[in-house]
Amino acid sequence: MSSNLSPIDKAKFVAAKRAVDYVENGMRVGLGTGSTAAWMVKCLGEMVRDDGLKITGVATSTRTAELAQQVGINIVTLDEAKWLDLTIDGTDEYDHNLNLIKGGGGALLQEKIVATASDQMIVIADLSKQVDALGAFPLPIEVVPFGWQTTKALIEETMVNLDVLGRSTSLRKNGDQPFITDEGNYILDLDLKRIGNPRQLSLVINQLPGVVENGLFLDICDVVVIGNGDGSVEVRDINSGTIEHEQIDVIETDNLFVDIAD
Ligand code: A5P
Repeated sequence: MSSNLSPIDKAKFVAAKRAVDYVENGMRVGLGTGSTAAWMVKCLGEMVRDDGLKITGVATSTRTAELAQQVGINIVTLDEAKWLDLTIDGTDEYDHNLNLIKGGGGALLQEKIVATASDQMIVIADLSKQVDALGAFPLPIEVVPFGWQTTKALIEETMVNLDVLGRSTSLRKNGDQPFITDEGNYILDLDLKRIGNPRQLSLVINQLPGVVENGLFLDICDVVVIGNGDGSVEVRDINSGTIEHEQIDVIETDNLFVDIAD
């Protein structure tokens, strides 16, 4: 293992390394967004280059598409792929039922469309993403720019009657400008602190005009691979109910760490 890797990066790397074991020749694979997913894309790139793995990738953001192409993965649009065998993505939170909050990287809309169009979704994470109840991480909500302040007020007002502990909402910024998603929309981050009923909340938010999608991924994730800084991983499968533990071998000279820029 590269001595430059921090424990958190090592945790993300081993989760990604274990998750790519699910990828088989000929698969159509959804590629997530974020720092953990970037390790997964690099691992797949290595398998394409060194092992002759043949896959078709669908990226969940322009930055993932760029990285995937850089490492030699063939990228097509979701409409070209039509349906995917597997999506591997990171998360901002997961609970014990493998429900998620995603969108910290601003790619929640494409991530949700791609994961929903997949036979299986595998989430890769470190233990810091595990929560008893979703909501400590502010819930990202993608909204259309038109009337966004009205939409924001409406969201906050709607929260009064729901089982949450907070309702302050902020517009995500990129410097002093609004952050713009790949679809040309804005993101509101909703600081709920604790979400008592994620299903109800998701339905209510998505009914508001101006809202495109929210970052709650409910009943979408099948497996979470949790990496640790000591190189161990835990694989939890919600469908089979199994939990497995493994140690991931990492070769110090692995060119993943030296020849691909983030
Ligand atoms: C991107 O929009 C997000 O959903 C990411 O999957 C999430 O923020 C996890 O990112 P990290 O792996 O960088 O923590």
